Amino acid sequence: MSETDSSTYAAAHQRSISDPDAFWLEVARDIDWTTPPTRAVDGTEAPFYRWFPDGELNTSYNAIDRHVAAGRGDQAAYIWDSAVTGTTETITYSQLQEQVAAFAGALAAEGVGKGDRVVIYMPMVPRAAIAMLACARLGAVHSVVFGGFAAPELAIRIDDARPKVIVTSHGGIEPTRKVPYFPMVAKALELTSHTPGSVIVAPRHDQFPDETFPETPGTTWSYWDDVVVDVSPADPVPVAATDPLYILYTSGTTGLPKGVVRDNGGHAVALAWSMWNVYGIRPGDVWWTASDVGWVVGHSYIVYAPLLVGATSIIYEGKPVGTPDAGAFWRVASQHGATALFTAPTAVRAIRKEDPDGAEVAKYDLSTMRTLFCAGERLDPDTYQWATDKLGKPVIDNWWQTETGWPIASNMRGLDPMPIKPGSPTVPVPGYALVVLDSRGNEVPAGEEGNLCIRLPMAPGTLSGLWNDDERFLSSYMSAFAGYYSTGDGGYIDADGYVFVMGRTDDVINVAGHRLSTGAMEAVIAKHPAVAEAAVIGVKDQLKGQRPVGYVVLKAGEVRDPEELRTELVAMVREEIGAVATFRDCTVVQGLPKTRSGKILRKTMRQIADGQEDVTVPSTIEDPAVLDALTPFLRRDK
Ligand code: COA
Ligand code: AMP
Repeated sequence: MSETDSSTYAAAHQRSISDPDAFWLEVARDIDWTTPPTRAVDGTEAPFYRWFPDGELNTSYNAIDRHVAAGRGDQAAYIWDSAVTGTTETITYSQLQEQVAAFAGALAAEGVGKGDRVVIYMPMVPRAAIAMLACARLGAVHSVVFGGFAAPELAIRIDDARPKVIVTSHGGIEPTRKVPYFPMVAKALELTSHTPGSVIVAPRHDQFPDETFPETPGTTWSYWDDVVVDVSPADPVPVAATDPLYILYTSGTTGLPKGVVRDNGGHAVALAWSMWNVYGIRPGDVWWTASDVGWVVGHSYIVYAPLLVGATSIIYEGKPVGTPDAGAFWRVASQHGATALFTAPTAVRAIRKEDPDGAEVAKYDLSTMRTLFCAGERLDPDTYQWATDKLGKPVIDNWWQTETGWPIASNMRGLDPMPIKPGSPTVPVPGYALVVLDSRGNEVPAGEEGNLCIRLPMAPGTLSGLWNDDERFLSSYMSAFAGYYSTGDGGYIDADGYVFVMGRTDDVINVAGHRLSTGAMEAVIAKHPAVAEAAVIGVKDQLKGQRPVGYVVLKAGEVRDPEELRTELVAMVREEIGAVATFRDCTVVQGLPKTRSGKILRKTMRQIADGQEDVTVPSTIEDPAVLDALTPFLRRDK
């Protein structure tokens, strides 16, 4: 493998935009193809772009087999460090090849083949990654569901993806409790119209000794270790570069999640390139992303990218604090010799809160660690400064989203490191023609805030569409500004070309690095018999970045004890969406401010709650008195 010939950031970015075919075909040589591509981007069905349309490859071969063939068989592919069970385990590339081939064989025996879907609902154990790679080996399409989502959310994803098999485990382990998955999967299967037929369980008997398989009509349950016996290990199946590798559901503005579809070829090429150029990681380096396989950061930078370049990836089951203390991250990084750590700013804030002076940092030898990377939400300058001071290493913000799958903006550590400006993820990554547009679609001058948009085509590895929903793909991302992808984020680019991302322009919120839909929470709250209507907004939170706060209007004649109602609504959101929604605050109000056409003024509410000085109240507001009456409540929730 080699770095790209475009040896400076400016040259690489310029070339990636002016001649994407030449740039990305050259980069694509770092991937092993069964049929090498002769073209990079195909825009014949724009705005649906296809990458490497005549190429064929297998992603699991590129992540595993080729490294074994090249002599890396004895190198660790994954190191599992479970702070919640006190376990560590190393899986070499050779062992991984064997385990992935065996599990792929078991999936094939269940009838899973190219294009079939498999839902994976797993805690942070290596078999989550093995199941994903086994799907990739067969050309099957995985859809991982984050363990913090409750049964109805799992059910929505099962019904949309229509999997043949669900892969799960006995459960996950949170610092204060165990989370059994069997009841969740059983309940989800009660709710779905689709019947997958088979559930395969990666057991955790030691943690969940009393769980037995539930009854689920039409679906049989088996243990992983039983299904891999007597099956032939599966060889990698070549697939078209444009074939889907996975579907990952993410929150949109409405209650229904969007099934982001990722291809095989563009994904492999872009992720491998990003490891070298964005993150400065080389084969043999130990890389650690402290996230969850249920999020895009976990898909890209725990499971796939580190392996695509022959690095070692740490899979961590634990938290930044409380497992057992605020030194957990530094212990793991030091124990396994991590060269880089990638996490969410909220995790750094959680550590700082418990260990403001950095006493825990000082306890560990972090000499192997070159860089701390942060993404998932804005890295605020204060948190940036604290981490920089305590670690004495570059702290690098990178901005991206589930849809793009890899950074849109970053400081290019392996290509051309640049001075850091706190609060900025630095510059657009090669492949992304990032612009700031005003509401009419005109580019705004440097320093002026607007909508962050990407001129089409986007880079390889970005979403190829939404699962079974072309219309939503077009309306969500492509219709606001013709010829551009709308990121849904607002921000600006300064005179030096540095990008500043200021937050979502829609009703998606970001709580502790978790992307959530306020619309989904509103839909749950609206089901309460006493509630006439509700608005949920994300207000600023010192630790989690944002937290959801609900405002509900009761039906005429309903009288409820506010605290009792709050408890009921909190329980409903937890039951329907999951603990991860972190919905705790809810207030009964007399009315919600609306436009004359009935649209709730969530943005105005959010601005008041955040204490913003320049609050925008649309001239179309129906009754300003409603907003005046609500303002003291919003200010209180600041
Ligand atoms: N399975 C089940 N429940 C889960 C879960 C999972 N995988 N992940 C979180 N939850 C639960 C938590 O236990 C908590 O439940 P509680 O309300 O009963 O306490 C709830 O969901 C909210 O979780 P969270 O918002 O994560 O709060 P927390 O207090 O448990 O932890 C942080 C706070 C900052 C330590 C944690 O959010 C964190 O590490 N964030 C980083 C996020 C991240 O990696 N994002 C990916 C992008 S890089
Ligand atoms: P997700 O799809 O869960 O990765 O969430 C994507 C959203 O998180 C983006 O649209 C942003 O709003 C926010 N986000 C992610 N990374 C950053 C960052 N580095 N700076 C600012 N916002 C970010």
